[in-house]
Amino acid sequence: MNRLKNKKILLGVCGSIAAYKSAILVRLLVKEGAIVRVVMTQTAKDFITPLTLSTLSKNAVEQEFYNPETGEWANHVELGLWADVFLIAPATANEIAKMANGLCDNLLSAIYLSARCAVVFCPAMDVDMYKHQSVKTNLQKLQSVGNFVFEAEHGELASGLVGVGRMAEPEHIIENLVLNFTEKQTFAGKKVLITAGPTQEALDPVRYISNHSSGKMGIAIAQSFAKKGGIVTLVVGKIDLNLVEKHDNLHVISISSADEMYQVCKTYFDTTSIAVFAAAVADYKPKQIATNKIKKNEESFVIELTKNIDIAFEFGKIKKENQLSIGFALETDNELENAQAKLAKKNFDLVVLNSMQDAGATFGHDTNKITIISKHNPPKTFDLKSKNKVAEDVVNEIEKI
Ligand code: CTP
Repeated sequence: MNRLKNKKILLGVCGSIAAYKSAILVRLLVKEGAIVRVVMTQTAKDFITPLTLSTLSKNAVEQEFYNPETGEWANHVELGLWADVFLIAPATANEIAKMANGLCDNLLSAIYLSARCAVVFCPAMDVDMYKHQSVKTNLQKLQSVGNFVFEAEHGELASGLVGVGRMAEPEHIIENLVLNFTEKQTFAGKKVLITAGPTQEALDPVRYISNHSSGKMGIAIAQSFAKKGGIVTLVVGKIDLNLVEKHDNLHVISISSADEMYQVCKTYFDTTSIAVFAAAVADYKPKQIATNKIKKNEESFVIELTKNIDIAFEFGKIKKENQLSIGFALETDNELENAQAKLAKKNFDLVVLNSMQDAGATFGHDTNKITIISKHNPPKTFDLKSKNKVAEDVVNEIEKI
């Protein structure tokens, strides 16, 4: 159990006889570890009481835009943003029609319009209503904009007729939620080390040399591993840490310089199964770090740089057979050739190649376009996608080896 641990489920209950099953649904959701809040339409209250659902969900049930007794406003935007999944079960033909067409004359349908999360419709109605073309069209319309429909099931209906129209059994809804909204724990317990972001190489107490890396790609990979059960240590240069969504499996260590990044990685590498070197490590650092702030006394000023430690290279030398290491290559020309050379030189199992020639890829963007180079397979090029989707592709490729 606990397969929906900490998933925030907003259950929308519409006015159908199937609403009595909402009580069972809430109990099963809570048993699976979900945090459940409930919103009901007025007619739903004719079938099941708010008290039943608030008792089972351990949260107040939302019913109106505002509470007439306290005058408090039920914030439909807040509810829509809170949820990971808005599960509308039972969804009646009437509410389905309204939501398919953007109407929002009650709290439930207003939440639907302001929700950014996944929305699941579990239709419940009589057999002929469910077969009706207008209902079918409305459900298709809802699906075409990214909503999920967990189809009604066959059985005896409240009308006495037998056919398809019964709301999916609560147990089936739970299984479907687990299937669609939880990650397979492919990397359960595996230790993953990820470097990300830029390094800062100090020149004096107030200045440094760095680059424009935002760390977004490395963060997205870290998050993808964490969701799949990996125990992730993200060693990250100075970036906006608000970009890192909190996750129980994700431990973030902030560093500044390449040397610091190396030292931290050293303490983790030995027990690491998978290391991903996504950091934009400065290749050089100032040979001397001035103790005091450098004054602008000279007309021109030369900084002597010395090579930084190559973190990926160092760990490539001591990598064991049961460890995987993945590198990144940002190239402007001879991309494949250069990436192949890095694969060999740094003993990587995979190299994720970005080309500066691709618009929308590389530094700062929320999108990326990659080619994956590996030891034994031909290069594989992916479309331009969001960095989160690219991270999933990278993690899937790692999963294969
Ligand atoms: N890398 C690293 N430590 C460094 C430099 C790079 O760990 N000091 C890692 C990067 O995180 C990346 C890979 O090595 O995974 C490739 O880095 P890149 O700078 O592109 O390659 P270099 O080998 O430094 O080659 P060049 O800069 O000449 O292209």
